[in-house]
Amino acid sequence: MSEALHHNPEPDELSAGQCHAGQFVPGAVQVEYRCTGNVRRRIWSLTGAGEIVSPGISASRIFLKQFINRGGRQDRRGFDQELASHEPAEKLLSACVRLPKLLLVDAERLILGYEFVECLTFDELLRQDENLFRREFDAVLPHLVAMLDALAGGISNAKQRKGLHPAAASIRATVFPGLELRNMGVLKDAVGDPDSRLCTFDLGRPYEGCVADATSALLLSIGLLNWGRPLTRFLTGPDLELLDQAWQILGPFADVENVVARFEQEEVARARRVKAANNFESVAKKIGIRILGRRYLRALSKYAGNLARRSP
Ligand SMILES: Nc1ncnc2c1ncn2[C@@H]1O[C@H](COP(=O)(O)OP(=O)(O)O)[C@@H](O)[C@H]1O
Ligand SMILES: [Mg+2]
Repeated sequence: MSEALHHNPEPDELSAGQCHAGQFVPGAVQVEYRCTGNVRRRIWSLTGAGEIVSPGISASRIFLKQFINRGGRQDRRGFDQELASHEPAEKLLSACVRLPKLLLVDAERLILGYEFVECLTFDELLRQDENLFRREFDAVLPHLVAMLDALAGGISNAKQRKGLHPAAASIRATVFPGLELRNMGVLKDAVGDPDSRLCTFDLGRPYEGCVADATSALLLSIGLLNWGRPLTRFLTGPDLELLDQAWQILGPFADVENVVARFEQEEVARARRVKAANNFESVAKKIGIRILGRRYLRALSKYAGNLARRSP
């Protein structure tokens, strides 16, 4: 969910024009970069297009992300976490999914710059072209299993094993909290080869957990695809058929108690977040979202609770 920036930004906020100093990641050299436009104020970040203007370095189109949230608050922790995710993500996931290369770091302004990739995330795809979404969703499910396998390989040395076997939920794995469908996209120009179409970003600091933790995050994100705008979609609540479809593939790598706990945790976290919403959001909107959101999340928790009665 993003909106175009209409008001004057704070002096240090991302805005088109001026050059700033940053570090070019390959080679760790000091470079000048600037934002060229398309600035979006998102809930957790400001994003925009940019370029590197130093001689000898060709990066004419980069994606800039500044860790300043919609309330104007700087998020150094989020910046550090995203930076910390980069190397392990490359190591574990680059063989099965496209990860935009990190090109620029400006630690002072909390800006990271990436190779620009034209993609549509699954939540965007669902809103733009539902038929295409369904096709891409069918195609992505086996890829999610491949990713779970790769995450488990980080700790348990996948070379010893031949693929992730059923009932693998308790295998130790490197878990990226942001590895979920709203942070995964389908590349616009990669036609044909399904393996090269998928890209992912915004993964968050990884921790050592188990496969089930990563599976729960994926299932939750599928349950949240209808969350947010437009209101008609939000009102319909989670798409349980989509969850069923995902459960058929991901069920063997899930632990029902873990799913229930993760879904309930989301309910608590979102209730807290709404209470602390920014002052510019009207009270009516807050209350409305709270009621709708609660209903939505209850439906999700109920779905998770019912999984206990099925065999995956
Ligand atoms: N390298 C990239 N190139 C172009 N667009 C990107 C790139 N990475 C992310 N995006 C787009 O920007 C959006 C926001 O990025 P993300 O890192 O998920 O930020 P947030 O923390 O605000 O969710 C994504 O949903 C995606 O559409
Ligand atoms: Mg994101």
